Amino acid sequence: MYLTDEEQKMLNGDYGEGTQLAMKILAAIGEAYDAPKMVPVSRTHVALSNQEADLWFAEKLVNGGAKCRVRPTVNPSFNLEQFQQITTIDKEDEETVKRTHAAYNKLGAIMTYNCTPYLEKNIPYFGEVISFSESSATPFVNSVYGARTNRESAQSALCSAITGVTPYYGFLLKENRAGQVLVHVEADMDDDFAYQMLGYFAPQKIGFDIPVFEGIHNPSKEALMNLGAQLNTGGNVALYHILGFTPEALTMEDAFQGKKPTKEVTITNADLKAMREEISDASGKIDFALYGCPHLTIDQISTIADLVNGKKLAVPLFIMTSSLTRSLTKKMGYMDIIRAAGGEIVEDTCMDQPCWKFLYGKKGITDSPKCAYYTKRRDMQFVIAPLKDSVLAALKGEY
Ligand code: F3S
Repeated sequence: MYLTDEEQKMLNGDYGEGTQLAMKILAAIGEAYDAPKMVPVSRTHVALSNQEADLWFAEKLVNGGAKCRVRPTVNPSFNLEQFQQITTIDKEDEETVKRTHAAYNKLGAIMTYNCTPYLEKNIPYFGEVISFSESSATPFVNSVYGARTNRESAQSALCSAITGVTPYYGFLLKENRAGQVLVHVEADMDDDFAYQMLGYFAPQKIGFDIPVFEGIHNPSKEALMNLGAQLNTGGNVALYHILGFTPEALTMEDAFQGKKPTKEVTITNADLKAMREEISDASGKIDFALYGCPHLTIDQISTIADLVNGKKLAVPLFIMTSSLTRSLTKKMGYMDIIRAAGGEIVEDTCMDQPCWKFLYGKKGITDSPKCAYYTKRRDMQFVIAPLKDSVLAALKGEY
């Protein structure tokens, strides 16, 4: 693989052991994928996780003197101060959060703690070469904006943040971005929840191929956020196209780059209904409601505020969002409304963080299959329902 003089210096260790390690990893990935060279990246997003391996790797880079050349935004952790008011945080978890924060801060990351960087603070333009990890972010930036990134891991994206480059292969090349499977969407895509189910179900029919969805019209940003998040939970889809809507698929010719689809599949209301029945817990009494996987937008939070305004929730309701959106909820009065009803808006966190231990063994309701999927290993069960229906259930304590 060809390396420039500057890249060779990084690999030789001229910039310290941390940068050397980052370049060594990227060069190995490049060799594995037959990349001819590295290319510069102008943005990065790292799926920081607070897990042991994440911390080990970040501290190893810090101890090797690494600094980010292209400062990444980062995924959620949790806000210790906020959670210490809600529950008791184990000393060990507190320590991990603090050490992870310190390590990433030293590396020069931008501490956004948000899993929808593509809606605020880190928005690429068409054709921009970037390095993004985070399962809902990668398909959004690739598909909706037409930026170019591979489906990076937290570690490979961090290596690109440090070196400023990524191996030139995969979705960075136009010819690898052509659609493969034509998906006729016959299901009624009349609310954002339908996109949660479409995203979770579609991989069963398309496998690892790039889908071109036909039959979807003007989805909201929330619908697209849901679609990407679930495509990468039910499967492994870093790029999709929507015919006549996403920038690389305005025509069938563009979407498939002049080739024929390798196959055509159809997705119906019955498919989505069956999928939901399979992954959702049975209806009945619920103990709590949890939203924000991915982080809710201000519009979604305002929908919840309208539904609970002047009422009392029968069970606790938690909303996860970015710190920017949370501060907007205060300014716009939604925080007061939701708190008065018995709910809470928490910033910077993810349901896959240990701050939710007080909900383990309980049954919740959410609109996100991804939330239900990841929390199974933490002994949480979820009924999965559309946002409005699930908030109404939280007011009653039952779905
Ligand atoms: Fe965000 Fe965590 Fe869900 S990073 S998308 S809340 S799994």
